[in-house]
Amino acid sequence: MRLFASIELSKEMKDALINAQNEMYDGGVRGSYTPEENLHLTLAFIGEVPEAEPALEALSALSFSPFPLQLEGLGCFGDLWWAGMGESAPLAALARRLRRALAEGGVPFDRKRFSPHVTLLRRARGNMPPIGIAGASMTVDAFSLMRSDRGRTGMIYTELGRFPAEERP
Ligand code: 2AM
Repeated sequence: MRLFASIELSKEMKDALINAQNEMYDGGVRGSYTPEENLHLTLAFIGEVPEAEPALEALSALSFSPFPLQLEGLGCFGDLWWAGMGESAPLAALARRLRRALAEGGVPFDRKRFSPHVTLLRRARGNMPPIGIAGASMTVDAFSLMRSDRGRTGMIYTELGRFPAEERP
């Protein structure tokens, strides 16, 4: 199975992302748009593993406090367009600690530098018009371990475990 750890986005943030996708589409840009239910922020890409248990166990040992996340601007890696997140020390710390927990649990993951982004569109064709992206924000109060399967019409992501933040008084 193919696994990754990610943050599920709030409705408000997804709405802002969908508006940006609609502006792209209305501007004539075609390609493979990420459907609403698949919009997420990846913290670590684990990839193919025989079972989920070691990853679930490693991640269950992590504790973190809720923190804010803010949408900020668009960018691209070649023909893949993404929405970025504002500079966030707690987000970087969560990704770092999560990756360390995976490493200590013997779970492999992609060691590429963490660059927080939400993929909006792959294989983009056409000139990207200027897009206004609303500065939506949310509170991160959990992260998830996800399984990724190739469906007939696209990727299907299934949550295998949800790891809530610790509310501090
Ligand atoms: P992407 O959106 O930039 O492609 C599930 O595939 C998630 O893991 C996606 O958010 C994807 O990022 C991310 N990911 C990170 N590294 C990956 C890799 N080497 N292969 C596939 N997906 C990767």
